[in-house]
Parts: sequence; structure tokens; C-alpha cells
Amino acid sequence: MLNPSHHLAALLLLTSLTPNPVLTSAAKTVIIPKSSFDNQTSFDTYWNYLYPWGTDHNGSARMARAQTRLSNSTLIHTATRSQNQKPATHGGKQIPIRYLSGAVHAKKHLTVTRGGGFDFSAEFVAPVARGTWPAFWLTGVESWPPEIDLAEWKGSGKISFNTFNTSSQVRARDVGYPDPGRWHSVLCEVRNAGGGNGDVGVKFWLDGKMIEQQWGKGFVGKALYLIINLQMEGSSGGNGPEQDTLFQTRNVEVVEYTA
Ligand SMILES: *[C@@H]1O[C@H](CO)[C@@H](O)[C@H](O)[C@H]1NC(C)=O
Ligand SMILES: *[C@@H]1O[C@H](CO)[C@@H](O)[C@H](O)[C@H]1NC(C)=O
Ligand SMILES: *[C@@H]1O[C@H](CO)[C@@H](O)[C@H](O)[C@H]1NC(C)=O
Ligand SMILES: *[C@@H]1O[C@H](CO)[C@@H](O)[C@H](O)[C@H]1NC(C)=O
Repeated sequence: MLNPSHHLAALLLLTSLTPNPVLTSAAKTVIIPKSSFDNQTSFDTYWNYLYPWGTDHNGSARMARAQTRLSNSTLIHTATRSQNQKPATHGGKQIPIRYLSGAVHAKKHLTVTRGGGFDFSAEFVAPVARGTWPAFWLTGVESWPPEIDLAEWKGSGKISFNTFNTSSQVRARDVGYPDPGRWHSVLCEVRNAGGGNGDVGVKFWLDGKMIEQQWGKGFVGKALYLIINLQMEGSSGGNGPEQDTLFQTRNVEVVEYTA
């Protein structure tokens, strides 16, 4: 027999597994259409090359425009071994650079407004070998965190979905990622969670299956960069591959909802 606490548990489970309701009062705007990788003109309308802050981050790849190309409406980043590069500096530490690779970021900064949110969707052929670290992610323009890893692969054979409240308060969910050589789809719904404290609910789907919901503390009103990059080593371990590594992305779509 169900006692009241079972009812509550069942209700909470249902609430957390049901997709977010359509925001009926919300206006819907396509910020980036699925066609943004169709040709250079379309790309240039929505995207810039490299990271918003330049060529380096916290892995062993230095981003270069030539490592990114468009083909058949697909964005392709290629990581290639490179010697005699100056080290990167991150958080006061030097990081040896061993690859040239590709990154792009959305021209538009994305800010969840009160009562609003975004849907992020895309398809990927992403490498999962040790030392390869592709990601489709959001990070704060003014501060870090906020960060939401809409999809990240850290060289473990799995895919990771993560939300950072602080550098140490992180919800990180790794799930199996079969057939990495095939296309997989990711959808992430980011919504102001209500309650008036500016939190967001973040729901992740892989290949149409909901994985889980996470929560971001106070993300409302904070501008975010959207980045698609192929970093190397760093969070995915050392001894990255000698041969070229490709990361392919297509059908990226960003839809904004505003109350
Ligand atoms: C580029 O792609 C966009 C989006 O599909 C399309 O509307 C436009 O006609 C294309 N331009 C060229 C020059 O092919
Ligand atoms: C181009 O992409 C379409 C799907 O978007 C796919 O069906 C087709 O096989 C691709 N063509 C090549 C040459 O890769
Ligand atoms: C982040 O903050 C939200 C809102 O306070 C909370 O619900 C969530 O549990 C926090 N995440 C982690 C990993 O502690
Ligand atoms: C690199 O920085 C990102 C945030 O920009 C963070 O999510 C990631 O954990 C960092 N990894 C390493 C190895 O420093």
C-alpha cells in the first residue's frame, strides 16, 4: 500500500521526468536556425571562429581558424599534432600545446530571462578516445560559473552532461555512448525554474531519451557564450592520439522563449 511519502516520491519522480510544459504565454524566437552551417554566408551570420576569448583554454589544443571547415551542412573541427607551439597559460599555470584544433562560438550572447529559457539541439559525430575532448557548451560572459555542458565527451567512451553552480558544486552525469562513429542527437531545455530566485532547470536528452534534470543556481540574467570546440587532453587525460581527430556537428538549433 502507498503511504503519503510514497505518493510524494511518485509525484516528485513524475515531476522530474515529465518534459517541461510548453510555455504557452511565451514568445518563441529562433536564435540560430538549423541551416547555419549550410554555407559560409549563413555561418558568418551566426558564428565566429575560435573561443570568445581567443585561441587557448585549459587543454593542449590551440585553436586556429584553418582547423574548422564546412562540408555538406556540417561543421568539422580537426585536431592535428603540432610542434614548437608556445605553452598556453591558464589559471597561472603553463599548459604545453601539442595540437592545433577548431572552435566556434555563437555571435549572440544568450541570457535566460525571467519566465523564459532556451532549447539547444544538435547532432554530433564525436570522438571518445582518451585525450580527445569535444564539447557543445555554455559558459558565462561576465563570470565563471555559470557553465552548462550541453554535451561533452571526456575521452572515457561516455558522454557527459554537467551543470556548475560553483567550481566545486557541480552535477555531472556520464552515460554510455554506443557507436560513436554514428550521428547522435542532443537536446537540452534550459528554463527559469520559477520560485523567484533566478534558478534554471536543465533537462538533457540523448537520441530522444531524457537523461535527467539538473539545476543551475541564479543563472537567470547572466549572459552565456555558446561554444562548439574540439579541445584535446586536459579533462580527457593525457597521451592524446597522434593521428588527426575529427569532431562533426550539424543541425544546431537554438530557440529562445521569453515570457
Ligand atoms: C546559404 O544558406 C542559406 C540557408 O540555407 C540559404 O538561405 C542561402 O540561399 C544560401 N546561400 C548561398 C549563396 O548558397
Ligand atoms: C550529406 O548529409 C546528408 C544528411 O544531412 C546525408 O544523408 C548525406 O549522406 C551526406 N552526404 C555526404 C557526401 O556525406
Ligand atoms: C545548484 O543550485 C540549485 C539551486 O539552489 C540546487 O537545486 C542544485 O542542487 C545545486 N546543484 C548542486 C550540484 O549542488
Ligand atoms: C577547464 O575549464 C572549464 C571551464 O571553462 C571547466 O569546465 C573544466 O573542468 C576545466 N578543465 C580543466 C582540466 O581544467
